[in-house]
Amino acid sequence: APGAQRFIPPQADTLDELRAAATGCRGCELYRDATQTVFGRGDASARVVFVGEQPGDMEDQKGLPFVGPAGRLLRKAVDDAGLDPGHIYLTNAVKHFRFELRGKRRIHQTPDRVHITACRPWLVAEFAQLAPEVIVVLGATAAKALLGPTFRVTRQRGELLPWPAAAQHPEDFHQVPVDNAGHAADAPPAQLLATIHPSAVLRADNQDVAYDGLVADLTVVSRALT
Ligand code: URA
Ligand code: SF4
Repeated sequence: APGAQRFIPPQADTLDELRAAATGCRGCELYRDATQTVFGRGDASARVVFVGEQPGDMEDQKGLPFVGPAGRLLRKAVDDAGLDPGHIYLTNAVKHFRFELRGKRRIHQTPDRVHITACRPWLVAEFAQLAPEVIVVLGATAAKALLGPTFRVTRQRGELLPWPAAAQHPEDFHQVPVDNAGHAADAPPAQLLATIHPSAVLRADNQDVAYDGLVADLTVVSRALT
């Protein structure tokens, strides 16, 4: 069967083991043109975990998530919201860069549902090693991966949501069940909060307004931490 599941070592019980295994993933065709797998990084005991879309051009080259312009903006927003940028965990719904070549330029392409679905087992496996209080869902792709295809970020951003009903209906995703997702087995379940993707802030007509909206949503997260 396609998808990442068969590349995940069943015995893996650390993020490092998962990261090492993910370098060899061929769960969808995106590994072919991308430079490398970009796995999550950060504090394994983070109280807040961020899920983005997919690595960008810079992330693809460096092998680390959120090291480009969107990552810079995100860390500033995290800081402005009163969260500690040194104690977060950052990952993506899809772990290879999807792009289209135009001349020599690599133009970002939004991942399709097939890529989100194929890659989702890595996200589930990561969550099983983390114990966040809040998972921040950045933009529509991460929302599709975690909240299902009908969730609308524009309508429900900035709200703390219980661990999603959608994730309890794996048929919505044609994917593995995720009852352990969002928390290690011995940790209380995480809440979710969806917000605008930092790349969308960079593209917005009014960047200041979009940025303030991101910070306002992340402030809801920092206030929710116990
Ligand atoms: N955008 C994302 O969604 N993830 C990254 O890692 C970088 C940019
Ligand atoms: Fe595997 Fe995900 Fe990369 Fe596809 S995008 S090859 S599923 S790691």
